[in-house]
Parts: sequence; structure tokens; C-alpha cells
Amino acid sequence: MITMQELREHYRFTDEDASLLQSLQPLAGQNQERFEQEFYDYLYGIPEMVALLNSSNRQRLREMHGRWFMSLFSGSYDNHYLNHLTRIGHAHVRVGLNVHYVNAAMNQIRHFLLNLIDNNYSDREQRRILREAVEKILDMNLDIMSYSYRAEELKKVFVSRKIESFLIKATERFTYGLNLALVLALAGVSISVVCLFVWDIAHIFRGDMEKGILSALGELLILWMMIELMDNEIKNLKGGKFNILVFIGVIIVAMIREILITTLRHDAMQTQVFLALTLLILGIVYFLVSKAQQIQPKV
Ligand code: HEM
Repeated sequence: MITMQELREHYRFTDEDASLLQSLQPLAGQNQERFEQEFYDYLYGIPEMVALLNSSNRQRLREMHGRWFMSLFSGSYDNHYLNHLTRIGHAHVRVGLNVHYVNAAMNQIRHFLLNLIDNNYSDREQRRILREAVEKILDMNLDIMSYSYRAEELKKVFVSRKIESFLIKATERFTYGLNLALVLALAGVSISVVCLFVWDIAHIFRGDMEKGILSALGELLILWMMIELMDNEIKNLKGGKFNILVFIGVIIVAMIREILITTLRHDAMQTQVFLALTLLILGIVYFLVSKAQQIQPKV
């Protein structure tokens, strides 16, 4: 972990910067309440943050963020200050706050402070050095706060980062290869179904009309299901989303084919009722899943 001395050196944060920040303390104090209000209006304007903040004590949070604002201008930036920043980072990681929102919030805080300086200092040079000091301390804050996220990421390593990334890549390639093999196998099976279809058509000409037509219809259904499956697999290979609806559709088609065959074989009534009920349930599941898929993108 970096020390405050190193952090100050890396950001070229001087004692003069510290004094300049301290000189802003009275102005910051006068604007603390406005800062808290604007910060909270910002946080509560983003739905993801509202969801995260719902379980928190709003007043306590407001005070914590307000106190942090004032600590920027304390004039003392030692290891104690560094610990304070590290604690903030850990607090955010603990509540599951995405680092993206911390970066975005810091951008708003930066605008707030730079505007404050612009509106209260008429001397151009004074404005410039104050701005620089503010930019440095905000960037140092962000650096330490995001360090907690990096540390959390590093903790997730199981054996070695290199071995893990090799294993992940190898597994990805293997899955891709399997998908490719699956598409080829589906293509092979489809050709066999086409042959079967031709065979059944021949049945019709040999005089077995009913059997021929129903079996050919069954094969067409299988063919349609194969096309759907292959289409889904190809989309998957190109990086598309896995579509569960296709699989339910495939089972429905297989059921319809089964019903056709049982009718042909004049199977027992119970079998036919059982198949019809299963088909009905599958139909309902298909309807519900497709409804859920329509709703999902709007969330
Ligand atoms: C640059 C931006 C931010 C700064 C400087 C900051 C600062 C702080 C500070 C000083 C604390 C108190 C830590 C402690 O002493 O335990 C804190 C806690 C917290 N902050 Fe932030 N914060 C920032 C952004 C955000 C954002 C965007 C959210 C969004 C929801 C957020 C949510 C929280 C929550 C929920 C806690 C309470 C954690 C707990 O209950 O222990 N903060 N933050």
C-alpha cells in the first residue's frame, strides 16, 4: 500500500497546495449545506443509486459525505488522512457500490468546487492555483478510493493470475469448438431427416397414403426444429444471446410429432390425453417465457 508521502510526490502535491486548500475552508463551510443538497439530488436522480441507498440512513449518509467535503480543506494531509480515504473506499466496496458511480459523483463534485472558485475569486492567477490544488486533492481521493476496488479484485485470485487467465481462455476456446461441432452435427442430422422425408413421400406413392403423409409431416416438423436450433447455435457462435425460447419450441414440435404418431398408431386414449395436456402446459410455458423476454429490456 502506498504511503501519503509517495502519494503527495506522485501528484506533486506541495505544502503550498495544502495551504491553498486550507484557505478555502471558510468558503467551503458556507457552502457545505448546498454541497450536501446538490450531492444528494444527484445521487437520488440515478435509479441504481436510489436502490442502493434505500436501506441506508439518509441523514447519516448526508452527514458522512458532508464531513468528507469539509475534510478536503483541513490543511493536514498525512497518513491519518490516507487511512480515512482507505476507509471510505472499503465502505463503498462493502455496500456493493460500483466504482463507476464514485467516478461519476467525483466529476460532479469537481464541477461544484471549480464553479465555487470561479464565482468567488476575481484574480485569474489566484483562481488558477486554487483550481490546481483542488484538482490534485480530488484526484488523490479518487485514487485511494478506487484502490479498495482494485485490492478487492486482486483478492479474487485463486492460484495465479497467469494460470487462471490461461485456463479461462482455454475453456472459452473449448466451448467455442464444442458449439462448432454441435452445428456440424445438427447439419448432418438435418440431411438424414431430409432423406427420411423423401423415403416417406415414396410411401405415399406405394399406396400407404395416411402413414406416408403423417410421417412426412412429422419429418417436416423435425426439419423446422433443426433449422431453429442451428440458427440459434450460429447466433450463439457469433456472440449472440442464448435463447431459451427456441428449446421450448423444439420440445413443443417434438410433442406435436409424437401426437401425430400416436394418432396413427391408434394408441390408448390415456396416452393421447397425457400428450395433449403436456402440450398445453408447454404452450403456457412458451407464452410466459416470451412475455418475460418482452418485459426484460424495459427494466
Ligand atoms: C466521490 C464520491 C464519494 C465520496 C467522496 C464519498 C465519501 C464517503 C464517506 C466519507 C463515507 C463514510 C465512510 C466511513 O467513514 O465509514 C461514505 C460512505 C458511504 N457512501 Fe460514499 N462517497 C462518494 C460517493 C458515493 C456514491 C456515489 C454513493 C452512492 C450511492 C455513496 C454511498 C455511500 C454509502 C451507502 C456509504 C455508507 C457505508 C456504510 O454504511 O458504512 N457514496 N462515502
